[in-house]
Amino acid sequence: MLNTQYLRSTKLNRDEVPSFKKYPFNLPSLKTLDELFFHPNVTFLIGENGMGKSTLLEAIAVSLGFNPEGGSYNFNFSTYDSHSPLGDYLKVIKGVIKPDDGFFLRAESFYNVASNIEELDRGAGGRRVIDSFGGVSLHEQSHGEAFFATFLHRFGGNGLYILDEPEAALSPLRQMSMLTRIHDLVNENSQFIIATHSPIIMAYPDAKIFEFTEAGIRESTLEETNHYKIMKQFFDDKNRMLHHLLND
Ligand SMILES: Nc1ncnc2c1ncn2[C@@H]1O[C@H](COP(=O)(O)OP(=O)(O)OP(=O)(O)O)[C@@H](O)[C@H]1O
Ligand SMILES: [Mg+2]
Repeated sequence: MLNTQYLRSTKLNRDEVPSFKKYPFNLPSLKTLDELFFHPNVTFLIGENGMGKSTLLEAIAVSLGFNPEGGSYNFNFSTYDSHSPLGDYLKVIKGVIKPDDGFFLRAESFYNVASNIEELDRGAGGRRVIDSFGGVSLHEQSHGEAFFATFLHRFGGNGLYILDEPEAALSPLRQMSMLTRIHDLVNENSQFIIATHSPIIMAYPDAKIFEFTEAGIRESTLEETNHYKIMKQFFDDKNRMLHHLLND
């Protein structure tokens, strides 16, 4: 395996930020952000809802030339322009080698990517875009099937893949299959940056975990994360947890 690291780090140009009182710079994770160094293979962004993971991920993706709503470098549709100005203040430090492939997958706007593919394929002739996604319309598959078809067929290796909650539609078993797929792609010189709430996905071993908290961003191990601890506590003693949740 080559030592390919397409994305080394991202740095907030703090001196240029107009105000840390306004969104997105008022988010606790950004208030204290200086430079985040990515793992050459897989980096996870995790943390409670609203901590700013998607905001940062989107800004990184936009700085790299991806469409804010997702897709490959070639997608430039826009159904709703709501992306934050964070990308203008973020420096992305790239590696020496450029990726051959790239994809920004966001669970929340994947539907729009699927529609855009159909639109593109209604246009000019030649090879259909959907063929690189496995050939079956993503609208004619279940949410999870469509995601998985994308990981399997569209992600081709030597790539930089930025994923926001890829587990959203995946069963626990498929999340485990996703670990295998991530591993295969890592062995084919790929790098992933993944925002996730799934303790299964964040268990990928050769990775860095950044936990976004009210106090800022900190590096964690799987076992230190709230996601893992809460899930474990729940299933270790489900009855006690349910008692607290339903009777207190
Ligand atoms: N345009 C906006 N103006 C003001 N605040 C916003 C705007 N967009 C998002 N926010 C706020 O920024 C915060 C961070 O949102 P973000 O989507 O980055 O969170 P997240 O960590 O990805 O959460 P989740 O785990 O729920 O996906 C949220 O509290 C949200 O309400
Ligand atoms: Mg999010």
